[in-house]
Amino acid sequence: MRERAIGIFDSGLGGLTVLREIERLLPEESLIYFGDTARVPYGNKSAETIERYALENASFLLEKNVKALVVACNTASAYGVEAMRRTFQIPIIEVINPGAEAVVAATRTKRVAVLGTKATIASEAYPKAIHAIDPSVSVLSIACPLLTPLIEEGMIEHAATRLMVKEYLAGMKGEGCDAVLLGCTHYPLIRNLIEEELGAHVAVVDSAIAASRALGEVLDALDLRNGGEKRVDFFVSDDPTRFQRAGEGFLQRSITEVNRA
Ligand code: DGL
Repeated sequence: MRERAIGIFDSGLGGLTVLREIERLLPEESLIYFGDTARVPYGNKSAETIERYALENASFLLEKNVKALVVACNTASAYGVEAMRRTFQIPIIEVINPGAEAVVAATRTKRVAVLGTKATIASEAYPKAIHAIDPSVSVLSIACPLLTPLIEEGMIEHAATRLMVKEYLAGMKGEGCDAVLLGCTHYPLIRNLIEEELGAHVAVVDSAIAASRALGEVLDALDLRNGGEKRVDFFVSDDPTRFQRAGEGFLQRSITEVNRA
């Protein structure tokens, strides 16, 4: 059991930011990553569609005999986890609750902002999770729909991305937020821009890091840490070559093989 891989899925490339953190924190674990590149983005789809995609992605990874499942995608975590937990008897780690815990721990003013896709923000999953931990924290939710396509296009340092960050974060001015949660797989890649825009007095909290820690805790609690050989496999639902090229940029390391699911 311990030697089985951990399954990770995302709507596409973005979840590689979660894989990167898992590799850092749990370097001994075998991983199987599935990116649903044929159907990305999830962030502007309906609740029913996102839930169906999440169940299908989970089934694909369960067929690969994984020992635990990480829902790297914030949008799929917001809409799909309940149905997944009803359907599959396997530890499922999502990003919303670990992210909520991390942002609550980071705030002193008890005023936080959450950035995410339209669907994640509409679900109110983050404010609900934050209020379940501490009802006195006020949450400013900001949908940032244009950031994902800009980042997917590799425009990380581009003036257009800087401009959109400025635009989306303008609503935080004067709100007294001292912590902002990156509630989307892609945003850690523009963390520098967000930090520069907000200044040093606002803590930037990454749900990818928080989720990786949560995974480590689940593996320890269930005595599931791998002690044997490890490998990392990648699967996508669309063109493997494009994923491989862009994914190497995301991960800042080479990806030797990407398989078509
Ligand atoms: N992976 C999605 C998330 O974290 C962002 C990309 C998409 O819209 O599919 O919410």
